[in-house]
Amino acid sequence: MSKRILDDTPLEDENEILEPIFDKNIMIVARKLTKDYEIGEYIVRAVDNVSLDILINDFIVIKGPSGAGKTTLLNLLGGLDSPNSGTIISNGVKITDMEEESLATFRLINSGFIFQNYNLISTLTAEENVMFPMSLTGLSLKDQREKVVPLLKKIGLGNRREHLPFQLSAGEQQRVAIARALANDPPLILADEPTANLDKETSIFIRDLFKAMKENKKTIIIATHDDYLIKLANRIISFEDGKIINEKRNP
Ligand SMILES: Nc1ncnc2c1ncn2[C@@H]1O[C@H](COP(=O)(O)OP(=O)(O)O)[C@@H](O)[C@H]1O
Ligand SMILES: [Mg+2]
Repeated sequence: MSKRILDDTPLEDENEILEPIFDKNIMIVARKLTKDYEIGEYIVRAVDNVSLDILINDFIVIKGPSGAGKTTLLNLLGGLDSPNSGTIISNGVKITDMEEESLATFRLINSGFIFQNYNLISTLTAEENVMFPMSLTGLSLKDQREKVVPLLKKIGLGNRREHLPFQLSAGEQQRVAIARALANDPPLILADEPTANLDKETSIFIRDLFKAMKENKKTIIIATHDDYLIKLANRIISFEDGKIINEKRNP
């Protein structure tokens, strides 16, 4: 193998980062991501020099033991948190350079998040929770209502529109959270152990929702150990100690 002689210029690194953006099949380019948490005198390296390319319509499962850094990695990839170092280009935009305000707008249009504990707003009804991200884009109330009804029907909760989160079962809350993630029809869906606290029947329902998203050409990244979801994935990444230790591809 020939040795490159570009060592004293930053070009090689730049090319390494920039080349894939021109590939129109790329959703996310992540390079050398590191995230440290400092608590008192302790530093935890939750994500350790991770590089990853994610293609449009990839369905990626990230699995690994508790504390491996899966949630942290998802938050970085979705722009919810910033790395200490490294670069992320998402949908052609270098999000690691963005100010929080533009990042918030970017997230609203580009990524839908589904959290382990649903994170619904407790004082808003199911319908209002789903309309909330729509309202942030400036959509009129009339248009929000037009979009929310089919979304709630899709998740099987057309008859729970007026319910507050505490009046819904755990599975129903997670389904509302999925509808909320889809509210602005973002190309990227990130989910953090979305079926971890749910019974088998609800897990199967949610798996079918993810299956439909995959068919709708969404790019999906899920931290999970759920066998049903793992079967849907085309890439299964094992994550441990802040690092990718292995990747398998489903046929
Ligand atoms: N906000 C935080 N402040 C300090 N340490 C954190 C924070 N979030 C996560 N960590 C630490 O980072 C490591 C990775 O956590 P996390 O990303 O939640 O892992 P996983 O989702 O795989 O269980 C853990 O050691 C955890 O204690
Ligand atoms: Mg986690």
